[in-house]
Amino acid sequence: MSKVRIVDLTLRDGHQSLLATRLRMRDILPILETFDSSGIYCFEVWGGATFDACHRFLNENPWDRLREIRKRIKNAQISMLLRGQNLVGYRHYPDDIVIKFVEKTAEYGMDIFRIFDALNDVRNLEVSIKTAKKCNAHVQGTICYTISPVHTIEKYVEIANELAELEVDSICLKDMAGLLTPKMAYELVKTLKKEVGLPIDVHSHYTSGMASMSLLKAVEAGAEMIDTCMSPLSMGTSHPPTESMVYALEDLGYKTGVDMDILLEVRKYFIEIREKYAGYLNPLSTIPDTNVLVYQIPGGMFSNLIAQLKEQNALDKLPDVLKEVPKVREELGYVPLVTPTSQIVGVQAVLNVLTGGRYKVIPKETRDLVKGMYGRTPAPIKEEIMKIVLGDEKPIECRPADLLEPEFEKYKKELEDMGIEATDENVLIYALFPQTGLQFLKGELEEEPFPAVVNFENVEGEFQVEFEGSIYNVKVKHI
Ligand code: CO
Repeated sequence: MSKVRIVDLTLRDGHQSLLATRLRMRDILPILETFDSSGIYCFEVWGGATFDACHRFLNENPWDRLREIRKRIKNAQISMLLRGQNLVGYRHYPDDIVIKFVEKTAEYGMDIFRIFDALNDVRNLEVSIKTAKKCNAHVQGTICYTISPVHTIEKYVEIANELAELEVDSICLKDMAGLLTPKMAYELVKTLKKEVGLPIDVHSHYTSGMASMSLLKAVEAGAEMIDTCMSPLSMGTSHPPTESMVYALEDLGYKTGVDMDILLEVRKYFIEIREKYAGYLNPLSTIPDTNVLVYQIPGGMFSNLIAQLKEQNALDKLPDVLKEVPKVREELGYVPLVTPTSQIVGVQAVLNVLTGGRYKVIPKETRDLVKGMYGRTPAPIKEEIMKIVLGDEKPIECRPADLLEPEFEKYKKELEDMGIEATDENVLIYALFPQTGLQFLKGELEEEPFPAVVNFENVEGEFQVEFEGSIYNVKVKHI
């Protein structure tokens, strides 16, 4: 029987999904050597929201974290999640920053770069993929999975072929909302294996309750790698439990090479961690959210909508907003609902309902999306929306980052002028997060206390909306 490689995400996606990305480095390091001896193929340990959360909330240098983790993981591979041209932030950075960031990360010993773009616009992945390849890293080209009339199996094969042309080493099928059904997992992996042939890693959030089934069907169809999290940080909005998947696969005759006894020791450790971090855990994120099956809206986006409506005292409008979301999504080219497009669609839908007129109020983010500033949407933006939003202005045709001026030297000089040591690491912290990054470098931030009570707002971003002459801030959580 064939081999299945286990990719454990506990130290990145696990705590990002369930504990608001707040796992402290001091709570990660003590278990690493044991964890590393378990036979797990790869640990995802960095990237996604960790870079932001580390410096902003934990007063921790993200580079130190990476160095300390790498030191302790000697057998397994380590991986990170990179948001293409957005790196580990929320906007497009110029190429010089992207190249520097990827080179520096590779220098710290990153083995696998998992690189995605919210729109699956492969042009937004080119620079980071090419740089990581040049650094001899394993590049995992990522397909964001979503459901829409234009997201057919052929479309996914087309994206995978574009990634293969960039010489990625493997493909990650990333189901951020838990929409991948067992049937689709099987058909999609089977077709990708046949048409593209690269090794496949399946990433499916447990949100809808289907992920374990989908991973199993994906393995049956030939997927070589699956993404899991240790049981104390599994399920809910996270991933299927590592231990259960290993046990079930071994029982079916697959070889994972993972030692269950060691996993149980690691489990004991993370049970304590879960208790310690209970204040960050939203009880609702721990159970399947079957809304997603009906509305096809990721759990994080669902709670964003509720929070925004509550703020406006308009929770009774939720049914209207839920009807508006798919309409807006269609008009905006069937974008996958992941950061940042999930927030753009969500905020626009709320505004369309609350202001009593569709596209009466248009945030800058919607305008930018329509203008092509995030990349090419999966389907063209609807003509009439294009007119309402842009007027006579024309959308851009090029890769968005082609319009950006280099920034690294500018930020470097600014740090030097402020008397802050301008190492590459520091310049990158500052360039990626000019506000909080600078505060961090100046030593003005403190580690936030552990919340005593359950806190599940965890606002991470803001939209500025101008309406009837006033500026409103719409708070959103990244998903
Ligand atoms: Co994920």
